[in-house]
Amino acid sequence: MSLKDAALKVRENAHAPYSGFKVGAAIRAASGKVYTGCNVENVAYPEGTCAEAGAIAAMVAAGETALQEVYVVADSPLPVSPCGGCRQKLAEFGAGDVPVHLGTVTGTEQMTTLGELLPGAFTAEYMAKA
Ligand code: THU
Repeated sequence: MSLKDAALKVRENAHAPYSGFKVGAAIRAASGKVYTGCNVENVAYPEGTCAEAGAIAAMVAAGETALQEVYVVADSPLPVSPCGGCRQKLAEFGAGDVPVHLGTVTGTEQMTTLGELLPGAFTAEYMAKA
């Protein structure tokens, strides 16, 4: 199954009764395996989690920590743009050149990279001791 189809499929399982905005994310890790996640909202609104966070959690739980490619999809008029927090979460596991595909359920797509999504990312290098 393609990354796009995996993202579209998992999106159907999103729990988004408050926003009505279902998001699906699929990530291909270094092994080639695909991990997926959807947004999971909560009646205590700040406790909700994004689709990207779910996919990353599935990847890490399976023992992988390197992203190869990302696909995020939602039913939005424009290809869905990952939120700031998700950009930082994705950057934890992927280099700046990792392709990120943003899509809509009607098929519009845009391709970008982790580096374009989060220029000047805070990385572990800033914490290195001299
Ligand atoms: N959402 C995601 O899952 N990923 C994003 O990158 C943008 C926003 C979710 C969070 C919330 O459940 C809904 O979309 C509306 O913000």
